[in-house]
Amino acid sequence: MIELEDVEVTAWTSDAGGGDRVVRLLGPVSLRLTERRVAVVGANGSGKSTLARLLNGLVLPSAGHVRVDGLDTAHDGAAVRRRVGFVFTDPDAQIVMPTPVEDVALSLRRTVPDATERTARALDVLARFGLAERAHVPVHSLSGGQRQLLALAAVLATEPAVLVCDEPTTLLDLRWRTRVDALLASLEQQVVVVTHDLDAAARAERVLVVDGGTVVADGPPEAALAHYRALMTGPATGTDAGRAPAHGARA
Ligand SMILES: Nc1ncnc2c1ncn2[C@@H]1O[C@H](COP(=O)(O)OP(=O)(O)OP(=O)(O)O)[C@@H](O)[C@H]1O
Ligand SMILES: [Mg+2]
Repeated sequence: MIELEDVEVTAWTSDAGGGDRVVRLLGPVSLRLTERRVAVVGANGSGKSTLARLLNGLVLPSAGHVRVDGLDTAHDGAAVRRRVGFVFTDPDAQIVMPTPVEDVALSLRRTVPDATERTARALDVLARFGLAERAHVPVHSLSGGQRQLLALAAVLATEPAVLVCDEPTTLLDLRWRTRVDALLASLEQQVVVVTHDLDAAARAERVLVVDGGTVVADGPPEAALAHYRALMTGPATGTDAGRAPAHGARA
């Protein structure tokens, strides 16, 4: 289970006059995420990625605690990252090896010590993601959708208990989006997806709406998405978390 307790995230920023000040990017937020399918929606700059990155310790809280199965992201970062896989919007941010098979094998290096077995396992994983034919080609020759599938494959190869995806389908055309959505839907794992695709969000069990650095609606998709649509058709104020000054929050 993922638990956020009185979480705040603050950062230092420079203002126009050259002075530094602390801004609150997120919080205070308290949540327990137990549902298998959770979607996070919100305007650009509202704090969704900050919230997602808290879940595997990529971002640490400035105040409060984030725990995954009781492990605190601030103290047990390595154990948390073994439990929580993170998929970035841009697959190129996480693919590091020259070919798909090498990239998936790299993910398996801790769990499969033998190199031959590791390659065989990597090929199995790629086959599951429809990439068997492309296992040995240069990564740059893959399409954007294939690279997104590869990034997902490399994360899922580590068998994380939880998968957090930050806009995994934003760069994809309809065919690949449908494919990645179907793949995410088929997973046993708990999946937390940040998305601007409201149809995808509607299929989650729970939707969090982030605005101005806090969770302003949280519940079943229909009610939460109605709240979000109303927010987005109203006056454009307070959606950017980075503009909010932090009062009394630790940096
Ligand atoms: N390290 C940082 N220092 C200062 N400001 C930051 C930092 N990281 C994020 N921000 C600001 O915090 C706010 C929230 O950023 P975040 O990336 O969480 O938004 P988002 O909801 O994911 O937006 P998008 O839909 O555009 O991806 C933005 O205003 C961003 O500029
Ligand atoms: Mg984002």
